[in-house]
Amino acid sequence: MKPVLQVESLTKGFPTTRSGRIKNIFGLAVNAAELKYAVKNLNLEVSEGEILGLLGGNGAGKSTTLKMITGLVLPTYGSVKICGKDIVKERREALKNVGAVIEGPDLFLKMSAINNLDYLAKIQGGVNREYTEEILRLFGADDYANEKVKTYSAGMKQKIAITQALMGKPKLLILDEPTNSLDAESIIVLRKMLKSLAKEGTAIIVSSHNLAEMEQLCTKVAVINKGELVAFKEIDEIKFDGQERVEFICENFEKASKIINEKFNIKAENIDGKTVLNCDGNTVPLIISELVMNGIKVGSLKTKEKSLEDIFTDLTKGNDKNEPKETDSDSAEKGENPFSTNNKTGGKDL
Ligand SMILES: Nc1ncnc2c1ncn2[C@@H]1O[C@H](COP(=O)(O)OP(=O)(O)OP(=O)(O)O)[C@@H](O)[C@H]1O
Ligand SMILES: [Mg+2]
Repeated sequence: MKPVLQVESLTKGFPTTRSGRIKNIFGLAVNAAELKYAVKNLNLEVSEGEILGLLGGNGAGKSTTLKMITGLVLPTYGSVKICGKDIVKERREALKNVGAVIEGPDLFLKMSAINNLDYLAKIQGGVNREYTEEILRLFGADDYANEKVKTYSAGMKQKIAITQALMGKPKLLILDEPTNSLDAESIIVLRKMLKSLAKEGTAIIVSSHNLAEMEQLCTKVAVINKGELVAFKEIDEIKFDGQERVEFICENFEKASKIINEKFNIKAENIDGKTVLNCDGNTVPLIISELVMNGIKVGSLKTKEKSLEDIFTDLTKGNDKNEPKETDSDSAEKGENPFSTNNKTGGKDL
């Protein structure tokens, strides 16, 4: 499959003081120590037909990443190529291939949805009016599409904004938390439309907090924690990594966790009075019999395949490294990436 989006070493620092000027690709001076890093050294690739889920908590850097990809925000360092075109140096050419909704709908409120869409279709070119009308119909938005946008609810506006992003069947579709304000029925409609566009070859990035939704929609996920990529994997690799979540109740957590750690090199946690750990299915009976042999009674044992939510929690907990890596303005001036952690492969393995 051909890569549609290539993101390399993408970094964004915002100044924390008035004097903290930013070095960006236009070569302004930098004082790296005075920057707060919203995104650090991000490497991503999305190919035709792939649906990438961008996951991360509030403030993780999802919207900033998507804004840099679509040229709304200049990177401090790094590059973005869309269909081989650089978003900074060949902005117009690169954006020809993009449909996007970032941080909510951006529509002319005094115009109707139809007028908004017709106007934007004229600017974009190559939009099939029938396809636009079909999207509106599937969303149930055809009923109100001739009324002024200012009279719409949040979900109604969101549907029009998504229609605008989809209607040109772009090569790269970027949706920042598209399910915000949508009702359950519309979320299903959207999922079907995105899967069908991906089948036709569109590369899609969707950011979300809704992990269950991402699990149903995406072919790949990228997890960002405090601006850094902590995982970039095919969804199947994540779900079928052989690990299970094991929970049980035992009398003496301290003793049990020590035995589990010493014998099996597995870290157990005490969550709401339950002993919780991750291990492969074959190890579960061995752990239980070891505990019983040591006189520890075990009850209410439950095992389940790890969900995306479990994995997300594992990856993002305790990772508190928001401070910038040791940087110096010398390396920035030379054009080297002062933020490099050599993660060209795109994050650690799960
Ligand atoms: N213009 C700005 N100036 C300074 N800091 C900013 C600016 N925009 C974003 N940030 C910071 O960058 C970090 C990442 O913000 P971003 O909006 O990308 O997060 P997000 O992952 O989209 O979060 P959410 O889930 O809440 O939408 C945050 O710490 C935020 O405060
Ligand atoms: Mg955001």
